[in-house]
Amino acid sequence: MVALGSDHGGYALKEAIKKHLEEKGIAYKDFGTHSEESCDYPLMAQAPCQAVLDGECELALLFCGTGIGISIAANKIKGIRAAVCSDTFSARMARAHNNANVLCLGGRVVGAGLAVELVDAFLETKFEGERHARRVGQLADLDQKR
Ligand code: RB5
Repeated sequence: MVALGSDHGGYALKEAIKKHLEEKGIAYKDFGTHSEESCDYPLMAQAPCQAVLDGECELALLFCGTGIGISIAANKIKGIRAAVCSDTFSARMARAHNNANVLCLGGRVVGAGLAVELVDAFLETKFEGERHARRVGQLADLDQKR
């Protein structure tokens, strides 16, 4: 199960990605927002990230205008490793090397066609572990020091 969340700036892209996930038979849970009405990205990041931390969802996809605000919000939640990406290499590496559990996309930055490729790259790539596991462990240490 994939968790989805957005503010108004990412709403349209979230809807496009939902269609893509449905076509691929990938289950998702949409935590909103559910319209173009203005809302605040720091608040919209919380429920999908919590679903990942609770194990209800394996990964989350978050959307705002740039992907930046919602990624900053997500990264303030302990245990979340969120990556804002607009190229497929970074989307793959975010999983392979950083074990990112959240992908953030900018609805005003990437078109739906590229976003589909970013999402596929992120969801299909596995964490490589080994030396990267040590570094991800060090990220968890930083979380504990907050
Ligand atoms: C909302 O206008 C916009 O600021 C937000 O979606 C996001 O881009 C912030 O980083």
